[in-house]
Parts: sequence; C-alpha cells; structure tokens
Amino acid sequence: MSDTHTHRVIPLQDLRPSSHALPAAALDDRLRLSPTGTLADTRGRALRDLRISVTDRCNFRCSYCMPKEVFDKNYSYLPHGDLLSFEEITRVVKVFISHGVQKIRLTGGEPLLRKNLSRLVEQLAALRTAEGRPLDLTLTTNGALLARQAQSLKDAGLQRVTVSLDALDDAIFRQMNDVDFPVADVLAGIEAARAVGLGPIKINMVVKRGTNAQQILPMARHFRGSGMVLRFIEYMDVGATNGWRMDEVLPSAEVIALLQQELPLLPLEPSQPGETAQRWGFADAEGRHDVTAGELGVISSVTQAFCRDCNRARLSTEGQLYLCLFAEKGYDLRHLLRGGANDTILASAIGHIWQGRGDRYSELRSAQPADIASTTRRVEMSYIGG
Ligand code: GTP
Ligand code: 5AD
Ligand code: SF4
Ligand code: SF4
Repeated sequence: MSDTHTHRVIPLQDLRPSSHALPAAALDDRLRLSPTGTLADTRGRALRDLRISVTDRCNFRCSYCMPKEVFDKNYSYLPHGDLLSFEEITRVVKVFISHGVQKIRLTGGEPLLRKNLSRLVEQLAALRTAEGRPLDLTLTTNGALLARQAQSLKDAGLQRVTVSLDALDDAIFRQMNDVDFPVADVLAGIEAARAVGLGPIKINMVVKRGTNAQQILPMARHFRGSGMVLRFIEYMDVGATNGWRMDEVLPSAEVIALLQQELPLLPLEPSQPGETAQRWGFADAEGRHDVTAGELGVISSVTQAFCRDCNRARLSTEGQLYLCLFAEKGYDLRHLLRGGANDTILASAIGHIWQGRGDRYSELRSAQPADIASTTRRVEMSYIGG
C-alpha cells in the first residue's frame, strides 16, 4: 500500500495546546541563572509548590471536569511515550527543589491510574529540600482505587492524601461522578488511608448550586471531629468543556452562613502564605476553637481570588510547565529534557520562565467576569491537574 494519503497520521500533539516559546534569556549562556531558592516572579511571588499531573485519564466523569460528552471513547488521551517517565519527573523535581519548591502534589486525571505510581513516590520521597528536610509529598485522588493502594503508597513514603468527595448521599454521588460509582467505596478508601496513617487527610468538595448544595451540612457533620479537614470549593470556570455558569457557583460566604446556622465557626489564621483555603474552626459553647472538633476550609477562587501570593507551578502529564491553572499554554520542559539539556540549563530555563510570570487569572476574572471567562481558550484541569 503506497498511498500515503490514506495512511496519513495526524500527530497527536496537534490536538493539544501549543507551547510558549522559551524566553530568549532562558537559553542564553551569558544570562545563565543559578538557583538560589529565592526566585520571584514579576509580582514578587515565590515558587514553593509544584503540582504534577501523572496521567490525563480518569475513571470518573465529573461534569465540572471531564464531561462525558467530550471525554468519550473517541477522545484521544496521550500515548504512553508522551508521558514524562518517573525518572524524568524526578529529575525535574530536583531542579524545582533547587529553586525553592517544598511541596509536591501528584494529580491527574486520576493519579492512581498511573501504573506503579508508588515507585515514583519512592523516588520523590528520597529527595530533600535545600535545608535537608523531606518534601511535603501529597496526592489528590478521587478515592476509587485508594483502598487497594493506600498501604503501598504509605510504604513508598507518601505523607498524606487529599480525597475528592462531592456528596455522602449515594444517588447524588453517583450522579456527580457520572459513572455510577458508589460512595461507599470512596469512604472505604478514605478509611484505608486513615488506617495506614496517610494524614492529615483533606476532603475536597466542589459545590455546585442546584446539584450538591444540600450535601454541605451532612458533609460538615460527617467530618467534624474526624481529624480530617473538609474543604468546600467554589465551582470554577477551568478548561473550556464544562459549560461553566456563574449561577451555579455557590459563594463561600453563603456556605459559611449556612453552616453557621447549625455549626458555629470562627475564622482561623492561615497556616501558610499563599494558601488556597480560608480556614474556619468549629467553635465550642464559649465561642473558642474546639480543637477536638477540628476545622474546615473554603476555597473561593471565584468570589475571592487568591492570586496575590500564588506560589504554585504545574507540570502537565507530558512535561509542559504551566504558570497558572487557567493558562492557555505551557512551556515545553520535556523538549529540553529529551533534547539533552543538562540540569544547569534546565534550572536556568525554569528560573527565567518563573521570573517572567505575571499570571493572576482569578483576580482579573473577578474584575471582569463575562469577558475573560468567555474569550480565553484554557487548558483542561484533567491535563494539568488541580
Ligand atoms: P493543601 O496543601 O493540602 O492545603 O492543598 P491545596 O489546597 O494547596 O491543594 P488542593 O489540590 O487540595 O486544592 C484544592 C482545590 O483548590 C483544587 O482542587 C482547585 O479546585 C483549587 N485550587 C488549587 N490551587 C489553585 C490555584 O492555584 N488557583 C485556583 N484558582 N484554584 C486552585
Ligand atoms: N471547579 C472547582 N474545582 C475543580 N476541580 C476539578 N474541576 C473543578 C472545577 N470546575 C478540582 C476538585 C477535584 C480536583 C481533582 O480538582 O477539587 O477534587
Ligand atoms: Fe476525575 Fe477528579 Fe476530574 Fe472528577 S474531578 S473527572 S475525579 S480528575
Ligand atoms: Fe494562581 Fe492562577 Fe490560581 Fe491565581 S488563578 S491562584 S495565579 S493558579
């Protein structure tokens, strides 16, 4: 068969977002930037947190993230050779650590679908920060495969997990994951993580008005006093496929007001600069923080943007560096890695990229909701990770 036209293969990367060119300074030997751990972007923000997507696949189809109509059997996921290998990820992480990164979050898609993930965890757990401390090494999962993997993840050196859970009610939960997955199995996964000591466990609930808002109180009651920290997340306009509408966002202020009617809360100080969640403690009868009841959080990226201290970088499944969850494009680190760049060059490139960062999407969107949300082509969250 010699007709090349009938056999023409469209390269898969054509279907992915294109990359930014590296800043000119990034590859200029005379402008070589050595890591000091004190990198700052154009708004003075440090680089502390790296989120790594280890797969673009998921076994759930939450409509706010991977709606079934788009992520169907015809959707082309990345072929295995395009994914960063564990060795490549570990190498990149070392360079990020030299720039001051202290926290690594493995995400997806669903990270537990990546084969032999605990081997990656083992490699990352062996790394140390410049001060000689282990990394804050954590993972975000939908919990479906957690019961099976909790022990091996713990043994590999994972410190803690965050589990996404949008409802306790089985019917609502099945509807939200859209693959008819039972909530009991996720609860069993959470229990397994707790039993092996993968804590403190955080539970992330995306709140959609009209879908699961009636689960706010049951969720708060369930996790109060459990030692786990439940966080309510405002439904965001990430990606371009979820048909986001402002009227489906339940502002965190309303979530707190609803909770206060039954469960008195008091605001707590942030535990770290640049944190995503605002913390609230359960109050005792005297109005003081009842530490045995614990705390919860709200993540208000729509109504109260937290870009000002955002110290998070994201590495996509195929090694693109994204400077914002809402960015349209990343920087192709895999090209550098596979093109033979040594660590000095890699560190310099990452340094220059971060120094040029000015992203603050949520802040700008708050100023101008309709405009920005409707005109930009953003990357999907399943591709760069939450
Ligand atoms: P902890 O260190 O465990 O507190 O994690 P975290 O809150 O930094 O990370 P997590 O992935 O649990 O974040 C929770 C949710 O907040 C995500 O699923 C997103 O919905 C949202 N989120 C996280 N990072 C960002 C960010 O940089 N920008 C925006 N707009 N939202 C974010
Ligand atoms: N809005 C808010 N959070 C989202 N996530 C995914 N899509 C959205 C969205 N549209 C977050 C949830 C989930 C994690 C994997 O990503 O927190 O738990
Ligand atoms: Fe999968 Fe998490 Fe996205 Fe749901 S939110 S589709 S569980 S990656
Ligand atoms: Fe950071 Fe972008 Fe999120 Fe703002 S919108 S907090 S800059 S990731």
